[in-house]
Amino acid sequence: MRVSLEISVAVTPLPILLFPDPLLRRTAAPVDNVDGQVVELVDHMFQTMYDAPGIGLAATQVDVHRRIVVIDVSDEGDAPLTLINPELVLAEGQGEMQEGCLSIPGVYETVKRSTEVRVRAVNRDGEPFEMDADGLLAVCIQHEIDHLDGKLFVDYLSSLKRSRIRRKMEKLAREEDDDAALT
Ligand code: NI
Repeated sequence: MRVSLEISVAVTPLPILLFPDPLLRRTAAPVDNVDGQVVELVDHMFQTMYDAPGIGLAATQVDVHRRIVVIDVSDEGDAPLTLINPELVLAEGQGEMQEGCLSIPGVYETVKRSTEVRVRAVNRDGEPFEMDADGLLAVCIQHEIDHLDGKLFVDYLSSLKRSRIRRKMEKLAREEDDDAALT
């Protein structure tokens, strides 16, 4: 019994906060120590991200306000990247790419960001490392670090566009509440 319970807990994706939930605006605190709980959270975040499916997820999005990010931009979903306490140490170039977010489902908009970055972080084993990234990975890293600072990709859009998206999301949430009330 105990075993099956643990398995069912492990495979259940974590609930993802949706824009405009104010909890998405909180600043995440650094991780002091990559202990068993952090590793468990990282693994649970990967499950949640793959299940969604998405290519990146920040702990903020699952209402855990710690500086933890999981990313996998590979086609096969076999290149998991864990960034704990990530910091951009270099950001160069400027490019535009269409972005989406698991916290703003169905919305895709073009955002201007650096095209090449170097990030310093701690991995799932608690070891510090640095890596260079470009293309989609560079964009994803910047998008996820923004989440840890309470920032969303819609913040880069005009306020008119952002309020339109906010109204759309609020309408969706109301419709889901109505559906829930009917059942
Ligand atoms: Ni996002």
